[in-house]
Amino acid sequence: MPATPATPATQAGFGNEVATEALPGALPHGRNSPQRPPHGLYAEQFSATPFTVPRAQSRRTWLYRLRPSANHPPYTKLPPARFGGPLATPTPNRLRWNPLPLPETPTDFLAGLVTMAANAPAATLDGVSVHLYAANRSMSRIFWNADGELLIVPEQGRLLIATELGRLALAPGEIALIPRGIRFRVELADPTARGYVCENHGAPFRLPDLGPIGANGLANPRDFRAPVAWFEDRDEPTEIVQKFMGELWTTTLDHSPLDVVAWHGNCTPCKYDLAHFNTIGTVSFDHPDPSIFTVLTAPTDTPGRANCDFVIFPPRWMVAENTFRPPWFHRNVMNECMGLIHGVYDAKAEGFLPGGLSLHGLMSAHGPDLATTQRAMAASLAPHKIDGTLAFMFETSQVLIPSRHAMACAELQPNYDAVWNGLEKLT
Ligand SMILES: [Fe+2]
Repeated sequence: MPATPATPATQAGFGNEVATEALPGALPHGRNSPQRPPHGLYAEQFSATPFTVPRAQSRRTWLYRLRPSANHPPYTKLPPARFGGPLATPTPNRLRWNPLPLPETPTDFLAGLVTMAANAPAATLDGVSVHLYAANRSMSRIFWNADGELLIVPEQGRLLIATELGRLALAPGEIALIPRGIRFRVELADPTARGYVCENHGAPFRLPDLGPIGANGLANPRDFRAPVAWFEDRDEPTEIVQKFMGELWTTTLDHSPLDVVAWHGNCTPCKYDLAHFNTIGTVSFDHPDPSIFTVLTAPTDTPGRANCDFVIFPPRWMVAENTFRPPWFHRNVMNECMGLIHGVYDAKAEGFLPGGLSLHGLMSAHGPDLATTQRAMAASLAPHKIDGTLAFMFETSQVLIPSRHAMACAELQPNYDAVWNGLEKLT
């Protein structure tokens, strides 16, 4: 029987200042770094944005912990892995992959990560990398990522993510954000787990501005859940792995680094149930650009040009009159990497499977396949609900280059272009 997942407590929090303590009185008051914090703890500031960014963009958290993070031996480099593996030659072709097979040998979340595409060298504080994971073991080691923030999108299998700041239970249909640098361990609450990870090397994800939509809508801040403080006082050898400049490095502590007893700040791991997304669409004709489905955006210095938008295609009513209702045929200056959590995506009749991945890069022409197009053009346009499906897109402003593994693996579909065959002249 699968283990029953723990459901640790959470608090509303995304980008707002929250405070929590696992021991009463552990949080100092009035100053962040008193000479001697309560309970004999060490004070440590964790900064995910430069000190001097505008206040509204600042993300930092004060940690009160059993030992400072500085107390560790040197890291040594691990052999190259599929996670952070080398990239192939850029290609203008449209690509699609079947889901990763579930592992047959013991594989934890970290070992099960496979880099599929990236658009910038790891040393650049910009761009994204897209990874898949498939695992069948809980981690006993700890991981942290110097190269970016991690957006975890489970496709199957529940996870329990134990972080320095507390624990998050995560199920398919939910997402988790792990800030750059936060130590964490992924435990499996089911025998296997599979899903997607977007590694954001740029400015942290935030909620998009709403413009004329108004003060409410899309993803609402109160639905994001941050952990409450939790710690383990465990004095035993603990491997800790970091990804730094695209490579994995390891060291062993004599204790668990998940030893933060209390914290306050606005840089926290968090989770969000995508079922809480307030979906907005047309009530007359045509349909808005998919940006209307943006859950989170990681901006660049150019307004409106996202380093990455995380966009979902959730259940919703379709009511537009005299309108081709699936996504139109299009070409886009942005680069679209899509995944499917469950069900059938409304632009593809077959071949795009839960756990699969597609890549439509800079200005590549794409849209609904032949079967979907023919059905949509002949459809009676009564209101109907797209239901039982949840697809998503990592949309990024720089070209995504597939990894060498992605171009050589058995999951790469050999003739994806054929889905648009047969779209002949109609007159
Ligand atoms: Fe597209």
